[in-house]
Amino acid sequence: MSDFVRANGCFSCHSVNEKIVGPAFQSVSAKYAGNKDAVANLMQSVRNGSIGKWGTRAAMPPHPSISNDDLKKLVTWVLAQKP
Ligand code: HEC
Repeated sequence: MSDFVRANGCFSCHSVNEKIVGPAFQSVSAKYAGNKDAVANLMQSVRNGSIGKWGTRAAMPPHPSISNDDLKKLVTWVLAQKP
C-alpha cells in the first residue's frame, strides 16, 4: 500500500511519522480518531486541496485526477497509521 501512496506523490510532502511540508500521517490519524466523517472529509481535503487546518502556511494542492476509489484507499490507509 505504501507503494501506492508513493505512486500518488503523497510522500513528497508527508511521511508516516514526521512532519515534512504536511503533517505526519500518524498525526492525521490521531486528530481524526473517532470522527465518523473522517474518510469523507479527508477525501475532500485531498481532492480539493487544503490550507489552514494544520497551522502552517503550507497548502496541500488539489488532486483532481485521483479517482474516488483510490482516494478512499489512500485516506483509509492514512487513518490506519498509528504510532
Ligand atoms: C505539495 C505538498 C503535498 C502533497 C503532494 C500532498 N499533501 Fe497532504 N497536506 C499537505 C499540507 C501542507 C497539509 C496541511 C494542510 C492544511 O493545513 O490545511 C496536508 C494535509 C493532508 C491531510 C489532512 C487534511 C485535513 O483536512 O486535515 C491529509 C489526509 C493528506 N494531506 C493526505 C495526502 C495524501 C493522501 C496525498 C497524496 C495523494 C497528499 N496529502 C499529498 C501537503 C501535501
